[in-house]
Amino acid sequence: MANTEVVHLQDGLTSVVVSIRGLPAIAHWGKALGALDQSALTALVDAVEPPIPHNSPDVPVPLTVLPAAVAGHSGRPALRGHRSGTHFAPALTVTDYTASDRSLRYTATDPAAELTVNGVLELTPSGLLRVQHTLRNDGDSPYHLDGLEAALPVPARAGELLDFTGRWSRERQPQRRSLDYGTWLRESRRGRTGHDATIGLLAGTPGFGFRTGEVWALHVAWSGNHVTYAERFPDSTPVLGGGELLLPGEVVLARGEEYATPSLYAAYSGNGIDGLSAAFHRKLREGRPAKPRPVVLNTWEAVYFDHDLERLASLADTAAAAGVERFVLDDGWFRHRRADTAGLGDWYVDETVWPDGLNPLIKHVRSLGMEFGLWFEPEMINPDSDLFRAHPDWALGPRPGVLPPSWRNQQVLNLGNPDAFAYILSRLDTLLSEHDIAFVKWDHNRDLIASGTHAQTLAYYRLLDELRERHPNVEIESCSSGGARIDLGVLERTDRVWTSDCNDALERQQIQRWTGVFLPPELMGAHVGPTHSHTTGRTHDLSFRVATAMFGHFGIEWDISSATAEERAGLVAAIEYYKSVRSLVHNGNVVRVDHPDPAAWVHGVVAPDRSEALFCYAQLTTSVGTKPARVLLPGLDPDRTYTVSFDGPAGYPALTQRETPTWESLRLPGSALSEVGLQLPVFNPEQALLIRLS
Ligand code: GLA
Repeated sequence: MANTEVVHLQDGLTSVVVSIRGLPAIAHWGKALGALDQSALTALVDAVEPPIPHNSPDVPVPLTVLPAAVAGHSGRPALRGHRSGTHFAPALTVTDYTASDRSLRYTATDPAAELTVNGVLELTPSGLLRVQHTLRNDGDSPYHLDGLEAALPVPARAGELLDFTGRWSRERQPQRRSLDYGTWLRESRRGRTGHDATIGLLAGTPGFGFRTGEVWALHVAWSGNHVTYAERFPDSTPVLGGGELLLPGEVVLARGEEYATPSLYAAYSGNGIDGLSAAFHRKLREGRPAKPRPVVLNTWEAVYFDHDLERLASLADTAAAAGVERFVLDDGWFRHRRADTAGLGDWYVDETVWPDGLNPLIKHVRSLGMEFGLWFEPEMINPDSDLFRAHPDWALGPRPGVLPPSWRNQQVLNLGNPDAFAYILSRLDTLLSEHDIAFVKWDHNRDLIASGTHAQTLAYYRLLDELRERHPNVEIESCSSGGARIDLGVLERTDRVWTSDCNDALERQQIQRWTGVFLPPELMGAHVGPTHSHTTGRTHDLSFRVATAMFGHFGIEWDISSATAEERAGLVAAIEYYKSVRSLVHNGNVVRVDHPDPAAWVHGVVAPDRSEALFCYAQLTTSVGTKPARVLLPGLDPDRTYTVSFDGPAGYPALTQRETPTWESLRLPGSALSEVGLQLPVFNPEQALLIRLS
């Protein structure tokens, strides 16, 4: 055992004080405390030692990162498992640890249960707290693992929870509740992250907003089944916890075998949700290439399965003329894929639709100066495919010979089967080698039902890792029927996500706002959809669609060969505008305003040096007040004078007022913009304005 008893992890913004008593117990996770010597740290831990109330264990029960029944914890135990019914409540004790001001690494064992855990708690350079554990079976009998989670305490004043749910085409919808007694358990058993998975769980001081209140958040970096929970019992500290959700028998450890948990990422902010986002965005921006994000045209909503060289080449011409930089051919190019009923698994270019292969189209796209991207759905198989007919046993089911109900007419390819894995790896590798492909849209269009997902998720990661190793210059988008696979596990291996299949700008305002709590704008694919939304039937002006897509990785998902001349001109201007702001939007700090009018949202991005910013005022519905509330623009340099320009690259918003504004620019100090604000005119609903500060 090393000589310190209390460890202080700190980075100037956040402090985590951990005492090593049995297992690591967090005495404080929150605001930075400044330098504290060992005696101050010990005093701090003593000062918050839990009392021994009547009718309770005769020893204090501190909350550890691995809460255990054997220590007297009455809530959800972190480590659950057994050896044929014995050793289900292991008593782990730290036997060794090393600590710095950024990390604590420890080993804990229970010699009787013959289990060892190695754990790490670290404050990453981005400011996130990462927690990860690995369990080893040291005994001869198999250890059946049911779950290994971790828990982090939040103070009693964190009385309100925010988490997310959703569905196809409406992902990450917020829901709030108070953190009451009991367990608020969010399980995702879909074998992918899930449309309704909560991307994170937030607890904060009641009423916490984007820029106000203290907030603590937890995210499970895993693309398969997982749990996230908040728990509060009368006899313990409230906690946020989470981990992988293991199905019975998925992990059985033989002697010497290990199970590694996914990383949990947690963050504290003393200034609302935006403070959490800053840390998650820093983390997700680490190590990514500085190359500007190209304007994308994705063919899905333009042509669906109607693949035709002439039509697509002409769409590419129109796209290039508008300023598009990457042309992505979506679903429909491989054998038998004339509809979503067949072909998944047959990863050969369809000879009937593409008699000369894809290269004529790719060459054309490249000659226009655009990159080429291609859609894949590697983990799936249609029963109507040559692959399934040859290898029906490669489909994943609850047991051999039994398949779950099909979903979008498809089944899951069992990547745990080495032959299936080798086949799909070799098909992807070959296709990427034989074609000039810069970008892969990697889709996954069904839930896994009644089958193990632990091995499948690990194999999916292995497949991605192997392909990235072989094709390091290919960018990969994580798509799963839109945004059903968005998490920090997949984002360690991919370059962006398809945020949602919904390109309706009104819905997108919401989907992007809440996805953006965790993801920085440039990782969220945001495309200008058709005038009439294919998923909702709503009609939106181009200006609203453009202003909405401007705060993501901008693209187009629309048959622009059918656009009017006016629409095309608007699009050209919008693309030019995006190119002029992308380095700001893709590197700056995200700001969301706690605007007093629920009918309008204000959000923006401020350059790290606060020299410039881009905001969006989006009128979602009509306001109750006839005169809109002033718009405050926070996050600016109070002492700097900004030129404020009101921009509508694809048109100005439609208004309901007697005068038409001239939209002339102003010069105002940052202090006035953030404290006094701007009076905007009366917008019609579903309209937006860009406000650029330079
Ligand atoms: C999923 C994706 C879409 C599109 C289709 C193709 O639904 O989310 O963007 O690629 O598959 O079949």
